[in-house]
Amino acid sequence: MGLLIGDEAPNFEADTTEGRINFHDYINGSWAVLFSHPKNFTPVCTTELGFTSKLKPEFEKRGVKVLGLSVDPIEDHKAWAGDIEETQGTALNFPLIADPDGEVAKKYAMIHPNADNTLTVRSVFVIGPDKKIKLKIEYPASTGRNFNEVLRVIDSLQLTANHQVATPVNWQDGEDVIIVPALSNEEAKKKFPDGWNEVKPYLRIVKQPGA
Ligand code: BEZ
Repeated sequence: MGLLIGDEAPNFEADTTEGRINFHDYINGSWAVLFSHPKNFTPVCTTELGFTSKLKPEFEKRGVKVLGLSVDPIEDHKAWAGDIEETQGTALNFPLIADPDGEVAKKYAMIHPNADNTLTVRSVFVIGPDKKIKLKIEYPASTGRNFNEVLRVIDSLQLTANHQVATPVNWQDGEDVIIVPALSNEEAKKKFPDGWNEVKPYLRIVKQPGA
């Protein structure tokens, strides 16, 4: 079954393009994104790593540490980083984990044997400051992910963690949000003194906090 939302993100030690890390020590109470790539020197992965590097200021603004993973050796990662800089117009600026024995990939169930026995699928894990998994998504090797969507989910998760609101279908930053069902009207009055639009007792719409 692999890891589920709410599980603790397994710890590991690994070589990365920024040195050897202990994962839990590295994330150290921050939000984190851990995402896998099927293989080095492949076209889709190259575009993803370039785009994610360009998004670094957005991740930093949200207090998120980003790590990539590929089941290739560290020497190959360093050579591939040169290609990423040359072709994507940006240097790789976050740690890319070398996982040649697939140990981290196994812990995170990133290898789906019926798709491919050795390569990982495109997994994304968003991990909270409590080291718990908050989001997992999996894409096939041939489809590049939408990292703007990863940022959108992080915004939603952080709004829930900080303000007890959830986000409706297709929500974008700045749009109205929903008071979580776990919050009673009495509690909601303290948090949202300007009130809310009660469409149904369970559907209470409120302005996005901080927007
Ligand atoms: C790619 O990154 O381009 C890729 C990797 C594995 C299968 C298909 C595409």
